[in-house]
Amino acid sequence: MNALDLLKEQHEEVSKLFKKFEKLDDGASAERRELFIMIADRLSAHATIEEQYFYPSIKTDKSEALVREALEEHLGVKRFIADLLDMAPTDENFDAKMKVLKENVEHHVEEEEEELFPMVRRILNDDQLLALGVQMKAEFEELMKTEPRNEVPMQTDEAAPI
Ligand SMILES: [Fe+2]
Repeated sequence: MNALDLLKEQHEEVSKLFKKFEKLDDGASAERRELFIMIADRLSAHATIEEQYFYPSIKTDKSEALVREALEEHLGVKRFIADLLDMAPTDENFDAKMKVLKENVEHHVEEEEEELFPMVRRILNDDQLLALGVQMKAEFEELMKTEPRNEVPMQTDEAAPI
């Protein structure tokens, strides 16, 4: 699978989960926690494959500023996830933090899809995008077997290196 299609598909999946979360009523604590965990695992594994495979593969003088910005945005997202992992869904700030997490993710996704991905199409050819997509998909699936959210609290000091 093409790397950009893979990342877009993962963006959409998380966006659907956020929508599901927002439809749950306040009393549904177990379901709310469960959906948050699903979101946190997917965002964590997604950030890891981007940081370890995608960004290093697309870094050029032209893209470097956008990649660095993306890494800082990942850091922000990870900090929200780390906070939420420590909170019960009944906490009075849980929903507010989920909402801001969602807004941060949406902003990041928009910048990637509208600014970075078009640039990537000029940096990598179809074969390279395909090979990268295959590698990232395999790595994502491996990570998803390991509750990747648990790595997030160790990654909140500074942005991942490029
Ligand atoms: Fe990202």
